[in-house]
Amino acid sequence: MAMNVKPRDEAAIFSHLKSVAAHDAPWRTGKTFAYVYDPGRDVEAIAKRAYMEFLTENALDPTAFPSLLRLENELVAYAATHLNAPEGAAGNFTSGGTESCMLAVKTARDFARAVKPEVKEPEIILPVTAHAAFHKAAHYMGLKKVLVPVDPVTFKADPKLIEAAITPNTIQIVASAVSYAHGVLDPIPEIGEIAQRRGTLFHVDGCIGGFLLPYFERLGEKLAPFDFRVPGVTSMSMDFHKYAYCPKGASVILHRSKDIRRFQIFTCAEYTGYTLINPTILSTKSGGPLAAAWAVINYLGDEGYMRFATRIHEATKKIIAGIKATPGLKLLAEPDTNLVAFTSDEFPVFHVIDEMKKDGWLLQAQLGYMGSRDNVHLSIGQSNLEQVDDFLRDLKSAVARARLIPRSNVIEGLKAEVAKLGPDDMTPATLLRLATMAGIGGKLPERMADLNLALDALPPKLSEMALTEFFNNMYVPRRG
Ligand SMILES: Cc1ncc(COP(=O)(O)O)c(C=O)c1O
Repeated sequence: MAMNVKPRDEAAIFSHLKSVAAHDAPWRTGKTFAYVYDPGRDVEAIAKRAYMEFLTENALDPTAFPSLLRLENELVAYAATHLNAPEGAAGNFTSGGTESCMLAVKTARDFARAVKPEVKEPEIILPVTAHAAFHKAAHYMGLKKVLVPVDPVTFKADPKLIEAAITPNTIQIVASAVSYAHGVLDPIPEIGEIAQRRGTLFHVDGCIGGFLLPYFERLGEKLAPFDFRVPGVTSMSMDFHKYAYCPKGASVILHRSKDIRRFQIFTCAEYTGYTLINPTILSTKSGGPLAAAWAVINYLGDEGYMRFATRIHEATKKIIAGIKATPGLKLLAEPDTNLVAFTSDEFPVFHVIDEMKKDGWLLQAQLGYMGSRDNVHLSIGQSNLEQVDDFLRDLKSAVARARLIPRSNVIEGLKAEVAKLGPDDMTPATLLRLATMAGIGGKLPERMADLNLALDALPPKLSEMALTEFFNNMYVPRRG
């Protein structure tokens, strides 16, 4: 067969690309509170230029592209200094938070194989607020995850419950600085002490919080140590493509020493091609994200980031005060940073997202799980500051409208059915029955609240099943 594609000219290609983007999130407006970290046009231009200059270079082989090795070692050094890593710390640039977290777990697994060969069924301890990337890591690597509840009021990891979950098979504890869902900082010193005393590795996930936290400290926030200042911390992840405002594909994994980082590296000489030596999951990879991250960090520098952090800090304080002052809304937790979750005791809060969307705002739904109930998430960035007053005004009227939306009998019926389910009912047949009842079909409903309320009512196993099917049907080839 041949490719079913006729060459098009440049104008046609770019006009097509522009038209397909017409319904994307409006991130340049400062009205988007998830997915995009907008540093403004000047930073964007620097990033794009650096990205393009190294677009084609391949970080697969640092001997062929010593430039990339040099840029990576410099970036890792910036991160190590920022997170108070000791002399001798080592790390790598990765494609994102998920890759950094997966590498932290892979390192722990291979470290345990070397130093604790008696462990046959390795376990990692995850507070329920640890990012899903760790679930993915456990899933991909066939490790047992031990989920631990968090404090029901602060949503911070509970050191006592973590210690109680340790078994002879424990190879790693994970905590967050900060958690995505609630923006809270786990008690890293207490958990670090436990990890050290009980002889286990301890990863602090600073993917979303790690870059900003040092600036928030300098802005006067009283925070317990969250990084390598805590002796028990053996590794940390931190994303450049979030609050360091670098283009996507930019994160870092850091280990306390090269003796631990060694276990992150995968080498294969047992095939007929080039010997493969990969410190990261990706093998062939563009030098673009690395060069762009280096460029953005050097363009903004500490001063630029302090400016951004000050704006984020101010926007967050105003938004938190505004939410608290909005009748019917309440914070789910008091955040330590710029990630805010709010909910309502008076009406289904997901309706606020649909109502806000009518005014051009993009907010994120978070489903309930283990004590964390249905809520709306805001990741507040520097580009949101100018919009805060408009946001709070529109939020107030969205809440007023959301209150008037009648409660759905379907959801109440669904909840009643779910209450009758037992562990053996987590099957595609049950899902089909409940989905039919809830009217969940193949395509997205007009109001996402209806879908999110239904998903929120389902047990996690069934909603995972439903969402897998949904994506399986959504990603289908467009032929012809
Ligand atoms: C705390 C935390 N860890 C890990 C990740 C995963 O990062 P990514 O989406 O870059 O893979 C995120 C993403 O938001 C996060 O907030």
